[in-house]
Parts: sequence; structure tokens; C-alpha cells
Amino acid sequence: MYWRVSKDRFEVLDRERRIWWGKDGNAIPQIKRFISDVKDGRVLQTIWFYKDVGHTQEAKQELLEMVEFVTSDDVFITPKPTRLIQRFLQIASDKESLILDSFAGSGTTGHAVLKQNAEDGGTRRFILVEVEEGIARDVAAQRVRRASSGYTNAKGQEVSGLSGGFQFCRLSASPLFSPDGQIRADVGFAQFAEFVWFAETGTGFVGRADSPLLGVHEGRVVYLLYNGILKDRSTDGGNVLTASVYESLPDHVGPKVIYAAACRRGAARLARESIVFRQTPYALDV
Ligand SMILES: C[S@@+](CC[C@H](N)C(=O)[O-])C[C@H]1O[C@@H](n2cnc3c(N)ncnc32)[C@H](O)[C@@H]1O
Repeated sequence: MYWRVSKDRFEVLDRERRIWWGKDGNAIPQIKRFISDVKDGRVLQTIWFYKDVGHTQEAKQELLEMVEFVTSDDVFITPKPTRLIQRFLQIASDKESLILDSFAGSGTTGHAVLKQNAEDGGTRRFILVEVEEGIARDVAAQRVRRASSGYTNAKGQEVSGLSGGFQFCRLSASPLFSPDGQIRADVGFAQFAEFVWFAETGTGFVGRADSPLLGVHEGRVVYLLYNGILKDRSTDGGNVLTASVYESLPDHVGPKVIYAAACRRGAARLARESIVFRQTPYALDV
């Protein structure tokens, strides 16, 4: 492996006799790395052999065991073996690291993080990003879900889960914010609902966005009053929490969080009815 260092750093290393110039002094200079310099006493090898880090065929096999493909053409051409990504994690991550793979593909990175955590007791987390919705949902998510909670392999054997898990989030079709940081004026109820839900619960919205009652999270009933026009604070416009709007909301037992553009109910009344009012769009600073 080649290490790029600045000229100044190179000169310091050379003065410290940390540069190897070859037996005759005319080799391509290389930095000497000692066991004490590296993590876990492991010196990085220039060549990684497939017996240690796997190969494409192994990676395909791993994938076929865990994910159902309609045709063999759908199997990735060059997936990476989990062992290869684990080697990167062993070298370049700490036990608490957050690992980002912005080209997730078949989800090898997520699988490797779960495996590495299971092996060394780490609490690494991962973010996988995949642009193709089908791949994200049917390959990467399916694989990582099975890796964490267990599955039956192609030979009918039970494979125990590595534990851990993940949350599946989708990006909106269009951005919610305008370039100046304001929520866009043409945001529809469904898009706004997704955002409100995420801001309130930190989880992806799985509801249908066909009612002001967005859902229940950890015992809190979450409502959104939004008539499609963000700045509409007219009392009867539908964006304002009034007594009659409150009466018309789908009922659900439990403490309530209501997002609306304004509130015409007194603080004492809200407290008595276990309602927390959050004003849109200001309360959406995530
Ligand atoms: C070569 S694959 C990654 C393989 C993966 N590391 C594995 O072995 O499991 C690259 C993936 O990146 C996805 N991709 C390409 N452009 C992207 C983008 N701009 N954002 C997110 N994903 C993207 C492709 O759809 C493809 O699934």
C-alpha cells in the first residue's frame, strides 16, 4: 500500500530514519511502519489474499443465500465479499464508528458492520445510501434485515441473526426546503406529513397521509393540521387548532402532539387535555 505524505512530513520521517531506501539506497522510498504504530498490532499488508478476504464468487454465494432474485441476471456482477469489507473495518474503524457507504448496492457494508460488531463486541452503526429503490428495498434492506434477525439459507439451515437492526428511510421526490431554507410553498400534505413525522419521532413515516392523525409513536398520538397552504393562519382555514377543529379530529386515546400553524386554545386547556401544540413551520427545525 502506498502512503502519500507531504514533503515536510517526508523530511521529518527521513531524519527519524523512518524511510527505507532499499539495501543499496536506491529503491523507491517506503515508510517503515512498526507494530507499535498500527492498530491491534496488525501491520497492513500490501496484498490481500482471497483466502483471507474472500472473492467475487464467495460474495455472490453469500448474496444468493440471503436474497431472493427473480433471475440470475439480477445478481450483482461484482459484489464484494463481507470478509473484504470487514478487513477495512478492522483497519480503519473503531468499535463505536459510524460507517457510511453511499453506494450501498447489495448492502455488503451493513452486513459486514453487523458481523464485525458480533465478533468484537463493537457498537458500530452504518448508513447505507442507494439510489435504485428496488435495490435498496429488495436487496440491501432484505439482506441486512436477514443478517440481523436470522434466516433460513438455501440448504434449509437456520442461520442465527447477528442482532442489531436498521431503519429504512426514503428521500422525498423533491426537496422540502427552498434554497433560502424555507419550507417550499408547494409542499403537499403527504410530503409535509413525512417530514413532520420524522421531526417528531426520528423514524420513517409508514402511514398513508390520508388523515390529520398521522400515527401513534411511543404512546404519543401525532396530528398534523395542514390545508396545503403553509402561511394560512385564518381561523377557519384548517391550519389552526381551534375547538371545532379539535372536535373534528379522529379520536385516539393518549397524549397528543398537534402540529398546526396556530393555536386558539389556552395553555391550561391544552395541558388538561394532554395536548402538546407545535407550531409549523417553526417547530420543524431538525
Ligand atoms: C458497485 S455497487 C456497490 C456494491 C456494494 N458496495 C456491494 O458490494 O454490496 C454501486 C451501487 O451504487 C448505486 N449508485 C450509483 N449512483 C448512486 C448515487 N448517486 N447515490 C446512491 N447510490 C448510487 C448503484 O445503483 C449500485 O447499486
